[in-house]
Amino acid sequence: MDTIKPTAASAGAKKKKAFITGITGQDGSYLAELLLDKGYEVHGLVRRSSHFNRERIEHIYQDAQNTQNLILHYGDLTDASNLSRLLEKIAPEEIYNLGAQSHVRISFDMPEYTADTIGLGTLRLLEAIRETRVKTKFYQASSSEMFGSVRETPQTERTPFYPRSPYGSAKVFAFWNTVNYREAYGIFVSNGILFNHESPRRGENFVTRKITMGVAEILAGKRDKIYLGNLDAKRDWGYAPEYVEAMWRMLQHSKPDDYIIATGEHHSVEEFAEEAFRLAGIKDWKKYVGIDKRYYRPAEVDILVGNAEKARKELGWEPKVTFKELVRIMLEADAKRIGVKIPQVKES
Ligand code: NAP
Ligand code: GDD
Repeated sequence: MDTIKPTAASAGAKKKKAFITGITGQDGSYLAELLLDKGYEVHGLVRRSSHFNRERIEHIYQDAQNTQNLILHYGDLTDASNLSRLLEKIAPEEIYNLGAQSHVRISFDMPEYTADTIGLGTLRLLEAIRETRVKTKFYQASSSEMFGSVRETPQTERTPFYPRSPYGSAKVFAFWNTVNYREAYGIFVSNGILFNHESPRRGENFVTRKITMGVAEILAGKRDKIYLGNLDAKRDWGYAPEYVEAMWRMLQHSKPDDYIIATGEHHSVEEFAEEAFRLAGIKDWKKYVGIDKRYYRPAEVDILVGNAEKARKELGWEPKVTFKELVRIMLEADAKRIGVKIPQVKES
């Protein structure tokens, strides 16, 4: 990746302020780290929960260096007046809208709530920008799930959408409202159409993390089997810390636009599992995997693979971590967490 010149913030000028919804999630936590490193004052939206839900940002929140620079605010994407008040108070130069009910399978169980947080939540934020007149740039976390039953392969910024879940439809609604606010009101808003990206901080009920946690537990003798759904689905899996860099680059670009962020490679769930078991030195891996129909979806997205050429040309963004490296990073982190060693396995 090309390096981008230091921002005004890192060059000692007035600190830039960024507001992140979804800061407690996988991407929000990596983005907060990136922006703090770049000298931003980072404001995050957190939900009240009866259970402490800040594990992913606790290490940066407790870091004395960040006391002045990482500020958390209670709120929710379903609460419009709260969002308006926060924008008025913070006046951020950049807003990253990552908050969402982000699980595709669960969106079939909670379609209305999913549409509320993703579809209306995005609209509420856009309206809050318009009403408060805060001078800001806005990043919308759009998704490859919008392509659903894909009309062409690989998918580009010009591929028509065909969502296959309440989650995908809600993201399409949010995508088009983001475009409309750019065109109607001249607000600097960009959609990042991100393909699947994973990390050791991936939620435990997404398939990659479920596999690496399961394999580590099998290796440690804590579990006999993992139960999965459709092993044939194919995804374009990248590494989350690289993808949040792309979000930031979109808001530093001279003009707002929409970009695909992807590796251009696809692998099946079965291949992911096979590689994780291989790295753990476990042969006959199929013995350790059961199929549970509960993890199937009412409508499946069979294959997603993106072409990120536009982001490469205009933003200088390119993925570096390969599929095999990603599986290794995730498995090593889960093995370390539960205190088991991964055997030395020769690279295939
Ligand atoms: P994630 O780990 O599930 O994090 C979601 C975040 O949204 C959490 O901080 C969650 O808060 C917050 N949230 C949920 N409902 C909310 C509400 N009603 N109000 C405010 N915040 C709410 O998701 P992620 O993987 O980091 O993804 C970030 C964004 O990118 C999401 O919008 C997702 O749909 C989108 N996306 C992800 C991928 C991917 O492969 N990861 C690809 C394309 C697009 P709690 O911690 O309190 O639950
Ligand atoms: N979650 C899950 N659990 N998925 C499974 C399982 C299982 O036990 N077994 C097979 N799968 C299959 C799913 O049917 C799907 O085809 C694929 O694995 C990936 O599922 P997830 O990891 O849940 O991710 P996703 O592709 O549905 O959605 C993720 O990526 C989107 C971008 O394409 C999420 O991060 C979305 O928020 C994101 O927009």
